[in-house]
Amino acid sequence: MMENLAQGEKLNIIITCASGVERTVKTELERLGYPSAPAINGAIEFEGDSLAVARCNIFLRSADRVYIKLASFSAETFDQLFDGASEVRWQDYLPKNAKIIVNGKCVKSKLFAVSACQSIIKKAIVNSLTRTYKVARLSEMGTEYAVEFWVFKDKVTLMLNTSGVGLHKRGYRDLVGIAPIKETLASALLLMSDFYWERPFVDPFCGSGTLVIEGAKIALNIAPNLQRKFAFNDWKNFDKSLYDLAVTEARDKEKRDRKIDFCGSDIDEKAIKLAKRHAIRAEIADKISFIRRDVKDFVPSSPRGTIVTNPPYGERVYDIREAEECYKNLGKALKGYDGWSAFVITSAKSFPKYFGRKPDRERKLYNSNKECKFYYYYSKKENGND
Ligand SMILES: C[S@@+](CC[C@H](N)C(=O)[O-])C[C@H]1O[C@@H](n2cnc3c(N)ncnc32)[C@H](O)[C@@H]1O
Repeated sequence: MMENLAQGEKLNIIITCASGVERTVKTELERLGYPSAPAINGAIEFEGDSLAVARCNIFLRSADRVYIKLASFSAETFDQLFDGASEVRWQDYLPKNAKIIVNGKCVKSKLFAVSACQSIIKKAIVNSLTRTYKVARLSEMGTEYAVEFWVFKDKVTLMLNTSGVGLHKRGYRDLVGIAPIKETLASALLLMSDFYWERPFVDPFCGSGTLVIEGAKIALNIAPNLQRKFAFNDWKNFDKSLYDLAVTEARDKEKRDRKIDFCGSDIDEKAIKLAKRHAIRAEIADKISFIRRDVKDFVPSSPRGTIVTNPPYGERVYDIREAEECYKNLGKALKGYDGWSAFVITSAKSFPKYFGRKPDRERKLYNSNKECKFYYYYSKKENGND
């Protein structure tokens, strides 16, 4: 029983991520030693084992969740869904007392009633486990196992969520500022940029500090998810030593003695307080600085550096005129600093006009379901003016 989560057993692992960041996750996976198939609909699949599950949860910066794929089959009717779900050897994954949660989504499929699909899959699981464990009913008093289903174009995928809550919940950000960016998206933006630990880094609209903190963690090679737990940590059938192994590997790889020049600034005193609090909670407060500053007073303090930022979009707290004033002042501040690059995410289409330059590249991304552009402005001189 429950052999599939033992060390060395082959598993099909699915990593999910936000639309637009698939390639970044794929590169992260390759660096971890896991070549993967091309991403399909924000999901990347590869073959691994339980150690890979632990490592992906701990090391991936831009991924949303790590799943174990249980089955994939075509279904256009409830009977086909029930039969397909009944084929899974549920006893390989779920203990007798598992608390079974089933959730999912149906997209462009004949099966479109999510709650009916939920009930049918749950029924298939319960039928299978009561038979295998030879019990009349399941107590469901034990640890939670969340089964997720996707029905996309009549193809069903059944998966086990090993992460629990999304991986953007790193553990350091406990209070919410103005329009914070998700930690996973912040990391993805940094990984897409020319950001490098030896280059000075500034976020002039830092808010609660997410981009500076995620940036410092990348620069110091600190794994993003060491301060949180995952669903699999509570599973008795998941070998705890594999998690310990991945944590030791992460600790060994840290480069906390690197000297970095990373700063966040924001016009709002409360945001700066919050950013400092989050830096302390992320255990890197001594490595980064936060100051209260209007972007119009920003002057780069070195000939080269990188900005990755998420300025006001002009939609909620700040109106579009105030946002455009910010863009104009950022453009002014960087004039003549050819060694600086800037990477900016915003939904405001007028950004390039007010910033004063046509971007070298742009990419469509979503921030909290809002369609945005990520504008790339590379430095004009590789090494700045030095
Ligand atoms: C979208 S929020 C940034 C959120 C941040 N990325 C986070 O994760 O918390 C934009 C920030 O720009 C700041 N801001 C607005 N006008 C500014 C100005 N003139 N100078 C500097 N910061 C400004 C706001 O206080 C706000 O914190």
